[in-house]
Amino acid sequence: MGNHLQCALAPMKGLTKPFFIRILRQLGTLPDIVVSEFLRVHPTSSIDLDIQELLKESQRRAYKLYIQLLGEDVASFTRIIHQLEDQYSFDGINLNFGCPMPKIYRKNVGGALLKNIDQLERILSAVRQSTSLALSVKMRVGFSDDRFFSKILELIEQYRIDILFLHARTVEERYSASVHYFYVAHAASQLTCPVFANGDIQNSEQAHQIQATTLCAGVMIGRAAIRYPWIFQEIIRTSPPTSFEISFRDVQNYISLIWEELCRQRSEIAAIHALKAFLKHIALGIDDHGKFLHDATRITHFHELQELLSFLEKRENCIYQNVPYPNLGTSSNPSRSE
Ligand SMILES: Cc1cc2nc3c(=O)[nH]c(=O)nc-3n(C[C@H](O)[C@H](O)[C@H](O)COP(=O)(O)O)c2cc1C
Repeated sequence: MGNHLQCALAPMKGLTKPFFIRILRQLGTLPDIVVSEFLRVHPTSSIDLDIQELLKESQRRAYKLYIQLLGEDVASFTRIIHQLEDQYSFDGINLNFGCPMPKIYRKNVGGALLKNIDQLERILSAVRQSTSLALSVKMRVGFSDDRFFSKILELIEQYRIDILFLHARTVEERYSASVHYFYVAHAASQLTCPVFANGDIQNSEQAHQIQATTLCAGVMIGRAAIRYPWIFQEIIRTSPPTSFEISFRDVQNYISLIWEELCRQRSEIAAIHALKAFLKHIALGIDDHGKFLHDATRITHFHELQELLSFLEKRENCIYQNVPYPNLGTSSNPSRSE
């Protein structure tokens, strides 16, 4: 890794599929680290096809690949890690201690582990012993408050975690509260390992500001990477931070790349449905009155997609915003996908 601010692509179930990483490569904007969307770990779980594809892709990788595991059963973690390591080459394991979706945390996994410190420690201990690869943790600052935050930092130190990715909100805050970056600063000051700030980082300038105020080692970017994939190239290539001029023509090309990939494996209807999950982020930088967003979230057929693309083509020299228009929000909250 170079001498720049380190950047990681956040895991996003349903979005950070292997094809998305291929598109990042095509656009010349790969991050330093990719954390896979979560692989659910339980006594009968197996390695799902998307994770397998990512593991195969990444044999030609120019980034470090961490496979994210989400579960509570210690024996299952050990089994899946051995299976992954026997079959594939990758850089490390990532543990999900932050998922805020009730259907997930009600099963005592993800964010729920932030209020069950004994189980969290059992997992850290077993996983640390099961792998000699790098071990990272992705977590929030707590479940409903920060009462265990300091204790968890001690465990992270004790079990020699290699990177902490900190989404600086509680589980109960989901995506609505503003991000409390001071927890990132606190973790960075306490831990030996690098700490990556996560949550609502929109562009390279903001990433560098957060680094300067928290002294974090890196940033992890989620939704902004879907909306504005060039963010990684901006962070890596420009110091002091400057924005690239991305035109509507570039955005049209980006949407077309996603569409081509989606059509390879899906029917038109299914591809349109999947594309909308990307468009609702991309639309936030197109027009401040939200017309593109309105139209994009309602498309049902290919001809409507063509209309959206021709809207961009007719304005091909317009400059795309690298932050969302304020009145459109950062993006709609994730619903069922996380
Ligand atoms: C659609 C969606 C799916 C997500 N899936 C995961 C996941 O599989 N594992 C995980 O740790 N976090 C997941 N997240 C959370 C992100 O990794 C990230 O922590 C969060 O979006 C905040 O970062 P951002 O503001 O840069 O998007 C998901 C988020 C979204 C929007």
